Amino acid sequence: MTKYLVVGSGLFGAVFAYEAAKRGHQVKVIEKRSHIGGNIYTHEVAGIQVHEYGAHIFHTKSSEIWQYINQFAEFNHYINSPIANFNGEIYNLPFNMNTFNKLWGVVTPVQAQAKIEQQKQSLELDGNPKNLEEQAISLVGPDVYQKLIKGYTEKQWGKSAKDLPAFIIRRLPVRFTYDNNYFDDPYQGIPIGGYTPIIEKMLGNKLIEVQNQTDFFDHKDEYLKSGAKIIFTGMIDQFFNYQFGALEYRSLRFETEVLNQANYQGNAVVNYTDSQTPYTRIIEHKFFDPGQDVKDKTVITHEYPKAWEIGDEPYYPINDHASKELYAKYLQLARKDYPQVIFGGRLGQYRYYNMDQTIMAALQTVKKEFDD
Ligand code: FDA
Repeated sequence: MTKYLVVGSGLFGAVFAYEAAKRGHQVKVIEKRSHIGGNIYTHEVAGIQVHEYGAHIFHTKSSEIWQYINQFAEFNHYINSPIANFNGEIYNLPFNMNTFNKLWGVVTPVQAQAKIEQQKQSLELDGNPKNLEEQAISLVGPDVYQKLIKGYTEKQWGKSAKDLPAFIIRRLPVRFTYDNNYFDDPYQGIPIGGYTPIIEKMLGNKLIEVQNQTDFFDHKDEYLKSGAKIIFTGMIDQFFNYQFGALEYRSLRFETEVLNQANYQGNAVVNYTDSQTPYTRIIEHKFFDPGQDVKDKTVITHEYPKAWEIGDEPYYPINDHASKELYAKYLQLARKDYPQVIFGGRLGQYRYYNMDQTIMAALQTVKKEFDD
C-alpha cells in the first residue's frame, strides 16, 4: 500500500484520490481553500445552486467520461444557448441562422453563405492574417466581428485585437442551421444539486482524509520528506518558487448578488460583446437547473476579466510561445529533481482543461500510476 498526498481537492485531485482509495491506497488530500471542489465548487444561495467560480457546463464527446461522471450524480438536460448583448441588440450564439437573420435579414442558408462570402471579400487580405482581427474577419467578415467578437475578445485578453496573435482563433463555429446549442458534443448537462456533491462522493472513501485550509507551501519540506507520493495540482511555477519567472495567466473577478425578482435576464448566460461594458458576461444561476423552484429570488454574477498578478486566482493559462517554453523548463526540472511528485490538472500542467479533459487526464495518470 502506497501513501499518497494529493495537493488540491479540485476535479483532478478528487478523481485521483477516488481511484487510489478504490485500489486500497491511503490518501491525504490537502486544500488551501475552505471548501473542496476547486473551481467547480457550487453552493446554495437563496435556494439556488451558485457556480462560485464561473459558469460550469459539463459537455463531452466521450461516452466513457459521460458514464464515469454519471456514477456520481444525476445530470439534467441543460443545453447551453448563450445570448450576446451588443449595446442592447440581442443575438443568438454560436453564430447560426438566428444570428444571421437578426444581422442581415437573411432567411435561407444559401442567402447567409452568400452574405458571409461577400463580407469576407470586403477585406483585402493576402491570405495570411497577421493578427486576431484579420483572422476573425477572414473567417466571418466585419459585421459579425465588430458586433460579436471584437469587444468581447479585447476585454477578455485586455489587449487590442490587432495586438493579439491570429492563432487564438483557429476557427469560428459558424452554423447554417437554426440551432442555438453552443456545444457540438453529444453529452451535455448540469449535475442536479450542483458539482460539490460529486467531489464529496469522490472523497467519501474511508481511506481518504481531507484537510482544508492547508497550504502545501506552509509545510513543503515536511511533505516532501514524508515518504508519500505527491500529486500536486497547484501552480507548477509556484512549486519552484518562480525561479525562472512566473507563468502568465488571465484572472477574473466575480461579483455575485441576490435579487428580489424571479427572472433577471431570461437566460443562464448573456455575453456583453461591446467594448464599453466592463464585464464580459452575466450569469443567472437558476437557469442552469430549471428544477430549482425559487419564485421570488434570483442570483446573478457579473464576470470581469482582469490581469493576473502573483496572489490572484490564476484562471486561464496564456499558452503563447514564451509561456510554453517557460513551462517546459519547469517540467524538465520537475522530472529531474522531484520524481516523487506528479504534476496534474490545469495548474500543474499549465493547460486549459475542460472538465471532461481534466477527468481524462486524471484517469491517464491513474492508469500510469497503477499500471492498469
Ligand atoms: P482546480 O483549480 O479546480 O483545483 C486545484 C485545487 O488546488 C484548488 O482547489 C486550489 O485551491 C488547490 N490548490 C492550489 N494550490 C494549492 C496549494 N499550494 N496548497 C493546497 N491546495 C492548493 N470546464 C467545462 O468543462 N465547462 C465549463 O463550462 C467550464 N467553465 C469554466 C469557467 C471558468 C471561469 C474557468 C476558470 C474554468 C472553467 N472550466 C469549465 C474548466 C474547469 O474549471 C476545470 O476543468 C477544472 O476545474 C480543473 O480542475 P483541477 O483540479 O485541474 O483544478
